[in-house]
Amino acid sequence: MATIPISSVKVGHIDDVQELRKTQPTIIPQRFVRDKIERPTSLTTVEPSASDIPTINFSKLSSENTDELRTEISQLATACKDWGFFQVVNHGIDLSLLESIEKVAQDFFMLPLAEKQKYPMAPGTIQGGYGQAFVFSEDQKLDWCNTFVLGLEPKFLRCPMLWPTNPEKFSETVEIYSKEVRKLCQNLLKYIAMSLGLEGEIFEKMFGEAVQAIRMNYYPPCSRPDLVLGLSPHSDGSALTVLQQGKNNSVGLQILKDDQWVPVQPIPNALVIIIGDTIEVLTNGIYKSVEHRAVTHKVKDRLSIVTYYAPSLEVEVGPVQELLDENTPCKYRRYNHGEYSEHYITNKLQGKKALEFAKIQSKSLNQGPM
Ligand code: OGA
Ligand code: NI
Repeated sequence: MATIPISSVKVGHIDDVQELRKTQPTIIPQRFVRDKIERPTSLTTVEPSASDIPTINFSKLSSENTDELRTEISQLATACKDWGFFQVVNHGIDLSLLESIEKVAQDFFMLPLAEKQKYPMAPGTIQGGYGQAFVFSEDQKLDWCNTFVLGLEPKFLRCPMLWPTNPEKFSETVEIYSKEVRKLCQNLLKYIAMSLGLEGEIFEKMFGEAVQAIRMNYYPPCSRPDLVLGLSPHSDGSALTVLQQGKNNSVGLQILKDDQWVPVQPIPNALVIIIGDTIEVLTNGIYKSVEHRAVTHKVKDRLSIVTYYAPSLEVEVGPVQELLDENTPCKYRRYNHGEYSEHYITNKLQGKKALEFAKIQSKSLNQGPM
């Protein structure tokens, strides 16, 4: 298959997928065509029955009723242990705010390319801005996705040049939305700690001034959704990720469970919570980060708004002492979270490979076959 050279829309060597889509290519450029085993159709994709997907009712977690609280905490434990992700309903964030952030994100992606390129993401970095994240080489396969990223907290991560002035309400909305999502993350971490029998504040105390970033993804339709991926398989380098899926969009997010890709059917007004690598390390693997990816649709586009919440960069991360004993060896080493962040963002997304950084290899693995 030949690549269609559309030199005018190149971002470095990277085609802008929205512009590419406008040209209605009948042949997908080779850089987007996945090797056979990576294609969306290569592993069975199961259709989960609605009841399988864990749903957590946040209002019950903050309930005064101890029975209700206990039941919901135990459901939270199951969701984190067996799935590494769940959808949260009654999360307390105003629906009008969810609508506003979706609107400004959508409006931003609909701007002319030249306008969006005023906030360029340098290829090979994810410093923030518009473009394709996690691209490091010319032979790397590209995602069928446009991305806009902003570092939010602590404030020194903010790069004012990258904050769009158009749409007019963009920055203000991101600011308000992010405050609300931050509170949700803090609360969820408290309940996650409780679900492990730990003191509720343990993670918050440990995290210092937590890092928060927002990533907006726009997936245009693709004439050959069977050949491309919207987003490469990966686990998130965060502690928790909060993902909002656009209303009336196609189903695109999939999570890997028992070697099968499970599509996440959005529940209206719910938020998707994804366990990230940091929680896997802190819990010594009791709650594992979940590998996920996004697929595209032949005629429908899709938008997602993703918040990453992680410890402050100078924090030392390692399994919490309370979860270790003589029968439960420590499976992850201690490291500086800033170092992990750096490692994560300087490597292409490849399933859970980044987390190898933190794993202590067991003796049997080191010895290999006798
Ligand atoms: C991400 C992510 C999935 C989606 O941005 O980290 O996993 O559905 N996104 O957009
Ligand atoms: Ni992700």
